[in-house]
Amino acid sequence: MISAPALYAALPISVLVAIGFIRKWRSRNWGKCVSNTCLRGKTFLITGANSGIGLETAKALVRRKARVIFACRDITKAKEAINAIRKEQPSGGELIPMQLDLASFESIENFVEVIKAGFHKIDVLINNAGVVVPLSQDEKTKEGFEIHFGVNHLGHFYLTNLLLDHLKRASPSRIVVVSSTLHERAKLDFNDLNLRAEIEKAKQGRVSQRHNLGYCNSKLMNAYFVRALADRLRDSGIDVHACCPGFCYTNLFRNSVRWYHYILMFPVVLLFMRSAKQGSETVVYCASDYSIEGRSGKFYRDCAEYNSKYPFNKEEEIKLWNISEELIKARKPL
Ligand SMILES: NC(=O)c1ccc[n+]([C@@H]2O[C@H](COP(=O)([O-])OP(=O)(O)OC[C@H]3O[C@@H](n4cnc5c(N)ncnc54)[C@H](OP(=O)(O)O)[C@@H]3O)[C@@H](O)[C@H]2O)c1
Ligand SMILES: *[C@@H]1O[C@H](CO)[C@@H](O)[C@H](O)[C@H]1NC(C)=O
Repeated sequence: MISAPALYAALPISVLVAIGFIRKWRSRNWGKCVSNTCLRGKTFLITGANSGIGLETAKALVRRKARVIFACRDITKAKEAINAIRKEQPSGGELIPMQLDLASFESIENFVEVIKAGFHKIDVLINNAGVVVPLSQDEKTKEGFEIHFGVNHLGHFYLTNLLLDHLKRASPSRIVVVSSTLHERAKLDFNDLNLRAEIEKAKQGRVSQRHNLGYCNSKLMNAYFVRALADRLRDSGIDVHACCPGFCYTNLFRNSVRWYHYILMFPVVLLFMRSAKQGSETVVYCASDYSIEGRSGKFYRDCAEYNSKYPFNKEEEIKLWNISEELIKARKPL
């Protein structure tokens, strides 16, 4: 006879085991970067390398002896991350902490000055940092741009353009932009890139909490930036790749997740969400796999090319480029 307590225990255990198997089965489609060539002598610059996908990307590259610059908003967090990695792999590549706040043009400019003084070339720039903030909080960058537009797009747009000479010097070199398939839900209004209308609606509680237009738009701008830049850099020896890491549990949702979401989301997390390490695979692939060298301007997911459902068009692409340049010159929303 099986005792009653054993039966009570058997049910949740078998559910967990079943979920474990389903997760394992699903994860076989998530892709793995098989490239493991030594990266000694190569310099990688990762924005937001102290947390989540950026941190796991840094770990993977350091394991292959790369030199990695941690461009982080909070230098203490950068140093803590570096110390933790050094403990894990004392014989890995060189790790360098640096301060960069993408929500401030001045910080970006100072950062680039220091890079230019200290490094001769950058082999791979990984634009990974990103934020998700509920629109109702109406958060802005130092220059007054809507936070997703300002940090996820404009800040990286400016940083990348300032670093192009350093990337050219390392060619064949790469720029990897961490976008998201959520770009497919974007709706760009060039008369309101700072989303004043949407923010007003959000403040009145008239928009869905789950659909953050600011974030989706910024991820579309990432994808457009890659396409435009790849065009401009044709035959320069610099490849530009966009990628989506997949849906991962990281700190990204810290501003929008409440405690009860963790309970409600638990099954979703187990079944659908990747670890930051699993998410980093496609980023590492785009940053280091030789098989895609020379194939610039594409979008990747699950370590394979991804066909976006967004109807990209050249006019929108150029318009966004032009406006971004103008706004950086103006140093304020127009
Ligand atoms: N997680 C997902 O499901 C998912 C899905 C698709 C795409 N992505 C993309 O993946 C990228 C990495 O996100 P994650 O999931 O790893 O999130 P995360 O753990 O929150 O990491 C984001 C990083 O960006 C940094 N950052 C934020 N604002 C910054 C600023 N103003 N200046 C400099 N750095 C700043 C953060 O620094 P602090 O630690 O100091 O805040 C952190 O290091 C993002 O671009 C995100 O859009 C994520
Ligand atoms: C973008 O800027 C270029 C150069 O200033 C200009 O020739 C072009 O017409 C602009 N295109 C759009 C769509 O704004």
